[in-house]
Amino acid sequence: MSESIGPILARHQAAGRDALIPVLQEVQEAEGYLSKESVSLISRHLRLPTSKVYGVATFYNQFRFQPKGKYHVTVCRGTACHVKGSAKLLEVLVRNLKIEPGKTTRDRMFSLETVACMGACALSPVMCINGEFHAKISPTKALKLLDSCRQKEIAAAKS
Ligand code: FES
Repeated sequence: MSESIGPILARHQAAGRDALIPVLQEVQEAEGYLSKESVSLISRHLRLPTSKVYGVATFYNQFRFQPKGKYHVTVCRGTACHVKGSAKLLEVLVRNLKIEPGKTTRDRMFSLETVACMGACALSPVMCINGEFHAKISPTKALKLLDSCRQKEIAAAKS
């Protein structure tokens, strides 16, 4: 069992189905994602079938089942950002990275996620890379940012 999941489950002793979402959130917060092992431990602890745990977790797009990439890209899909073209922005990122939101590239370099609103609607559309905020981002600018991440990795590999 991972070091972080034990104390989380211990805090939810005799918990049932009502505790499922808080437990999933805490485990994801601690581990960055929900691994197969975590889902199975949660399922046993809460006495719920694994299929039920997956059913609930996959219903909410806040949960991820792969570790984040070295560069975690978050795209805002709130209303203000949608009006300013976040759908196109996301489409371009999906095409470039060849992954859907919630997934991580095979080389673990990038992961992609959508969020409801980043609270900066006046600066829409917005995206973040590893928590660094980018305002009024166009698809072209977004692709340049991905390229600069790739360049950084190439430079680091050479040094
Ligand atoms: S809708 Fe994107 S920051 Fe609010």
